[in-house]
Amino acid sequence: MATALIILGAGMGTRMNSDRPKVLHDIAGAPMLVHAMKAGAALDPAHTVIVAGHGADAVARAAHAFDPGAVIALQTEQSGTAHAVAQARDALAGFAGDAIVLYGDTPFITPETLAAMAAARLTHDIVVLGFDAADPARYGRLILKDDQLDRIVEFKDATDAERAVTLCNSGVVAAKADTLFALIDKVGNENAAGEYYLTDIVGIARAQGLTATVVQCDQAETLGINSRAELAAAEAQFQARARSAAQEDGVTLTAPETVFFAHDTVIGRDSTIEPNVVFGPGVTIESGATIRAFSHLEGCHVSRGAIVGPYARLRPGAELAEGVRVGNFVEIKNAQIAEGAKVNHLSYIGDADIGARANIGAGTITCNYDGVFKHKTVIGADAFIGSNTMLVAPVHVGDAAMTGSGSVITRDVPSGDLGLARAAQVNKPGLARRLMQKLRDLKARKG
Ligand code: UD1
Ligand code: CA
Repeated sequence: MATALIILGAGMGTRMNSDRPKVLHDIAGAPMLVHAMKAGAALDPAHTVIVAGHGADAVARAAHAFDPGAVIALQTEQSGTAHAVAQARDALAGFAGDAIVLYGDTPFITPETLAAMAAARLTHDIVVLGFDAADPARYGRLILKDDQLDRIVEFKDATDAERAVTLCNSGVVAAKADTLFALIDKVGNENAAGEYYLTDIVGIARAQGLTATVVQCDQAETLGINSRAELAAAEAQFQARARSAAQEDGVTLTAPETVFFAHDTVIGRDSTIEPNVVFGPGVTIESGATIRAFSHLEGCHVSRGAIVGPYARLRPGAELAEGVRVGNFVEIKNAQIAEGAKVNHLSYIGDADIGARANIGAGTITCNYDGVFKHKTVIGADAFIGSNTMLVAPVHVGDAAMTGSGSVITRDVPSGDLGLARAAQVNKPGLARRLMQKLRDLKARKG
């Protein structure tokens, strides 16, 4: 059955104490909203509707960055989860499939759980995702009767007996879209919060003779984020899972608890990640690579057998071919480094193409920015760039060419040539000794 996703994210998130809408706070380098969208994407939805309110423009930008086809429905006043879902009605007009409601602040629902809900939908009109809570706190309680989910009662409205129930509502609900909207029409706001509760649709559906059931998942999946402390806990939970997953995939993590992954980090088998490495978004590491300690990588691709770090920084567009070496205190941005090339010490390589087996000496800088425009540096295969060369882009150093140490290279160096661009050395015989003696004498006179 075709599925539409409705993701709620209009709430202000007061407890975050932030100018940023709650659902745009990052976990593992992506807004929590994007985590929810990724989970939902596993259902291959025909429509994705994001209900936005606070910071709707920013929410729309983040949603569209992940899925340009996502539709944004505005909820200008946050009067409850049922009212929020109702805002998706126009976007789904005429849609005959199922709708599944997710929360933008509940990022860890798994595709397997959503699949289990879709399966349960084959036998029940309404499927609610629940979990057995160690501490049910203020969650809505799922009240069962005769093998059916009978109703959901919000904590604020619950009796003591109902509060004793530990089966809790995650907020995720699936039903036929038109059934869902018809039920929402009947929801009122006579309750402790004065809000239109989405949870009320279960009791209304049962009174109409519709069926309802609960699919249960682990509480960790339904972790909802309402505060900075919960955001940090969610990050920790994500990282713990990502570390185990990397290890299961055959990656050596010397000190797993010190390695931080992004939501989309990909690392090949038999790679080694040393302590204190941070991955930003968009990193792919192929098999057998080594990322040495204290390196920071984002938006880059490291090929088989390459060695990066310690203390290296790979920024977006860094492309390292097989066997490349990038050493300590080297920054690489928007640059292709071909097979076997080495940039081992204290260099900045930006907006550049470095040929195979080229050796980039210590302290080399591509001067890529003139204050307004960025320019490109091209270095040929087997070139040898002397230490402390400034390559003032745009500039081209040919295959097997060299530059002398300390050169400021402003013109192209043809293949096989040596480019020297530094003042010629002059030696003054004996001057060092005489100068030093003069200074020592001066000091002796002054006492
Ligand atoms: C809700 C459920 C509760 C469940 C809990 C799980 C209701 C009435 N209660 O309570 O049973 O145990 O989630 O975390 O549904 N939102 C809007 N517009 C609104 C109100 C909320 O978009 O007008 C969004 C929020 O941004 C958030 C989500 O809906 O992403 C949940 O809202 P929230 O107010 O946190 O619901 P809870 O009180 O936690
Ligand atoms: Ca909540």
